[in-house]
Amino acid sequence: MEIIIKVNAEAAGLLAAGLIAEKIRTNPKTVLGLATGGTPLPVYEELVRLYRQENLDFSSVTTFNLDEYVGLGGEDANSYCRFMWENLFNHINIAPERVHIPNGLAEDMEAHCLEYEDRIQQAGGIDLQLLGIGANGHIGFNEPNSSFASRTRVVNLAPETVKANRRFFPAEEDVPRRAVTMGIGTILESRSCLLLAAGENKAEALAAALEAPVSSSVPASALQSHPRTTVICDRAAAAKLRNRLKNESA
Ligand code: GLP
Repeated sequence: MEIIIKVNAEAAGLLAAGLIAEKIRTNPKTVLGLATGGTPLPVYEELVRLYRQENLDFSSVTTFNLDEYVGLGGEDANSYCRFMWENLFNHINIAPERVHIPNGLAEDMEAHCLEYEDRIQQAGGIDLQLLGIGANGHIGFNEPNSSFASRTRVVNLAPETVKANRRFFPAEEDVPRRAVTMGIGTILESRSCLLLAAGENKAEALAAALEAPVSSSVPASALQSHPRTTVICDRAAAAKLRNRLKNESA
C-alpha cells in the first residue's frame, strides 16, 4: 500500500485527480468507482478543469457510485445522485447511460442491489475505486462491523454517521437512517483503490485503518489486504500515522 501525504486537502485532491486522469488517458474505457462527501470535491473540480482545458475525454468512461440514501430520489437536494451531477457529470462529456448510482427509491431493493452488482460485472469490473473515509472508519456506507465479504445492500447508518450528516438536512428527523451501498467485498474486487482523507477529524480513523491490525470494527482496514491501494491524505489526516515521516511529500 502506498501512502502519500500532501500539504493540504487541495493538493491531495489534485494528485488524486491526476492519477484518475492518467488512467483515463491510458484507457479511455476506464470504469471508475466514485465517492461523495466533501473530500472528493477538489478531485471533481480538477477533473472538470482537465476536461475543459486539457481535453480529458470522458465519453467512453463508465462510472459506478458507491452509495445513496434510501428514501431520497435523484432530484432531492441531498441525494448523492444530485451531488454527482452538480459537482461532476453536468460539467464533463460523460455519456449519461454509462453513469450508475444506486437508486434510493427502488421498489424492490434486493433486486436492485443484485442488478447493480451485475452491471459492475457486465462493465468488466471497476478499474479504479475512489474512496473517502468516515470518522468512524466507514467506506461507502459500510459501517463498523460490516462483513468484508458484503455486497451491495441496504444498511442502517451508525448513529455517529447520522449525526455527521445532520448538517446537510433541515432537521434531525430528516436525516436518512438507511442507505444502499456497495459492500466491502464489492469494493475489494476493484482492480485498484484510491483512498482519500483530509482533515484532523479523519486522523484517528486513518491511523486505525492503515496501521492497526485489520478489523471489521474499522471497515477501511479491509484495504490493507487489497494489493493495489493508494492512500492520499493531507497532513492533518496523517497526524496520527506513526510511519508518516517515511511518506511525506510536498
Ligand atoms: C459519507 C459517504 C462516504 C464518505 C464519508 C466521508 O458517509 N457515504 O462515502 O467517505 O461520508 O465524507 P466527507 O468526505 O464529507 O468527510
